[in-house]
Amino acid sequence: MIVALLNQKGGVGKTTLALHLAGEWATRDRRVTLIDADPQGSALDWSQQRGREGLRRLFGAIGLPRDTLHREAPELYRDADLVVIDGPPRVAALMRSALLAADLVLIPVQPSPLDGWASAEMLALVAEARIYRPEIVARFVLNRCGARTVLARETAEALADHDPPMLRATVGQRVVFAAAAQSGRLAREIDMESPAAAEIAALVSEIDQLGVERREP
Ligand SMILES: Nc1ncnc2c1ncn2[C@@H]1O[C@H](COP(=O)(O)OP(=O)(O)OP(=O)(O)O)[C@@H](O)[C@H]1O
Ligand SMILES: [Mg+2]
Repeated sequence: MIVALLNQKGGVGKTTLALHLAGEWATRDRRVTLIDADPQGSALDWSQQRGREGLRRLFGAIGLPRDTLHREAPELYRDADLVVIDGPPRVAALMRSALLAADLVLIPVQPSPLDGWASAEMLALVAEARIYRPEIVARFVLNRCGARTVLARETAEALADHDPPMLRATVGQRVVFAAAAQSGRLAREIDMESPAAAEIAALVSEIDQLGVERREP
């Protein structure tokens, strides 16, 4: 399966979730390749930091911030069980290419009033990609939520009947993710017992249960 984390809105958690999903799958003995499609290269930075810290390589990471992604990602998929794409911010051509490569599109959103998450532009791009690839599966992922905040509940309720739907598994506002980003580690490598590690594990299990398979366009 090729999974793309996409939202043209910046700072919603694309890179954090891409790295943690890739890492979680790798620790479950799946062969994972991560594509950094963001010209800023923050996923690659994480990967290099990991190397500097002398940590075990979990998955291969490659920078491909270009609009030929939809042709290159399937090539990389030949040698992997999963390809995870960390999406670019605001670059329409790159976004289109990532969408066309993907079997599953995950759209990270943060608890916010309706217009914050329901990015019309993002959904229009998904609809456009489905003209060529109707089988693309899309889901919202609620990130940085405080479980008991009104906003989180309202966002979850608003997205419950939405198309695309929201995954049941959500990820909380957890400081360990900031430490993970800086140190080239996963949250579970910093604290195996952390709520963040459990949330990522639950997220991966729910995604696996969706049973999305790679279908060649
Ligand atoms: N669940 C979380 N809890 C705490 N901090 C988080 C969480 N998710 C992301 N962050 C932090 O928020 C910031 C933005 O996250 P991230 O870089 O993953 O977003 P992004 O969508 O990839 O942003 P960009 O559009 O700039 O690529 C980072 O500093 C990250 O550590
Ligand atoms: Mg990013």
